[in-house]
Amino acid sequence: MDNIAGTPVEGDNFFGRSAEVLRLAEILENDDILLLGPRRIGKTSICRAVMAQVRTNKWHAIEINVAACEDELAFLAKLHDALAPELSTLSSKIKGTFTNAVDALHARIKSFKIPIPGAGPVEVNLADKVAEDWIELGNDVLRLLIQANQRWLIYIDELPIMLFNIIRNDDKTGVQRVRLFLDWFRNDVRALPDSHSIRWLVSGSVGLDTLVQQHGMADTINSLNHQNLVAFTEEVAKAMLLKLAERYQLELGEEAAGKLVAEVQWAQPYYLQKAFHHLRHRASIDKDIDIISLIEPSINDMVQPGSDNDFHHWEQRLTLQLGANQAAHAVALLSFAAKDFTGARPENLLAVLEGRMPNDDAERHREVFINLRDILQRDAYWWPDERSGDKRYRFHLEPLRRWWIRRNTL
Ligand SMILES: Nc1ncnc2c1ncn2[C@@H]1O[C@H](COP(=O)(O)OP(=O)(O)OP(=O)(O)O)[C@@H](O)[C@H]1O
Ligand SMILES: [Mg+2]
Repeated sequence: MDNIAGTPVEGDNFFGRSAEVLRLAEILENDDILLLGPRRIGKTSICRAVMAQVRTNKWHAIEINVAACEDELAFLAKLHDALAPELSTLSSKIKGTFTNAVDALHARIKSFKIPIPGAGPVEVNLADKVAEDWIELGNDVLRLLIQANQRWLIYIDELPIMLFNIIRNDDKTGVQRVRLFLDWFRNDVRALPDSHSIRWLVSGSVGLDTLVQQHGMADTINSLNHQNLVAFTEEVAKAMLLKLAERYQLELGEEAAGKLVAEVQWAQPYYLQKAFHHLRHRASIDKDIDIISLIEPSINDMVQPGSDNDFHHWEQRLTLQLGANQAAHAVALLSFAAKDFTGARPENLLAVLEGRMPNDDAERHREVFINLRDILQRDAYWWPDERSGDKRYRFHLEPLRRWWIRRNTL
């Protein structure tokens, strides 16, 4: 197993989570899945493991990453391009029937354009009209798959980014188009005869849930089975570190592995890999120093400029999801909670908001606090720790807390 910190991991580099892989594959027997979570928690890696798993049951599985798709048509083109080679692996008897149909679809997708309303008068029905066309195309692609008489898993990575792209590029009808897209997904796709032979696994990291709530379309994603990825248990986290240590001939040992896990706090594999990477680097320089004493400095290395790219995402996604104003409130709350390793009490956090919103009344302060509190909890920035008897909101990821403090210090 290699010390990889960044790109999705597969095969021997995919550690643990085998029960989760089986569980997700089992859910896919009857349901489509929406797997949302913060960046870097291993979504793509586990989805690829799920693809490998269903392939052992003779499903066909394809992956499309739609982050670069600017509209619905780019989505269909991606889907088509991923399906074409997979269809060509079907037995030659079925394949013959499909080659022409696939080519014809390709030509239709390429010749079709989605007009974006310009500066002229708003065409209210434009989004509907456009949708009729691409939905028909999309349904034809799916019909083709159904006819192949196989089981399919279509894994769509980064769907929320595509939906944000559509909204950003088309401020007149973007929201409406996103709604139509999600409705297509929920209704049309399922209404096709034998549509159960196609299962969807959708993942992404920016808040699809915030997006649909803000625009009153939460109903569109309710039919998907919502899943998330919890951190490793301490045992699994230690086992992974010890395995990495063995691979790189680093004398880590149980105690040091336990300390490293405790320092990261939120044992998501990415942060363990990152911490291990810095520890390995320090150990290669300070060869004679006890490894335990290198752990704390290695965690600090993670948050220094140049190594801290990942922590910037945590800040940036607040603006992306919440808009500048609410994001600034969220940042203020997090900065306050970051001051203490054990977090902050809710009434003190509420006071932070009161100070920032002098023209609003108490009811509004509470409303804003509760909304942000829940988003920050759902997106794994903090969690309510009630072990001491008093509730305190504290950071999940200790390196992120340190980064947050560093960013706010002159
Ligand atoms: N099962 C695992 N075993 C070991 N390392 C893992 C595992 N899952 C994830 N990782 C670590 O996390 C990193 C990111 O994984 P992955 O790309 O799958 O996450 P992601 O949630 O899709 O990230 P992004 O939000 O950036 O798309 C990997 O490079 C690896 O360091
Ligand atoms: Mg990913």
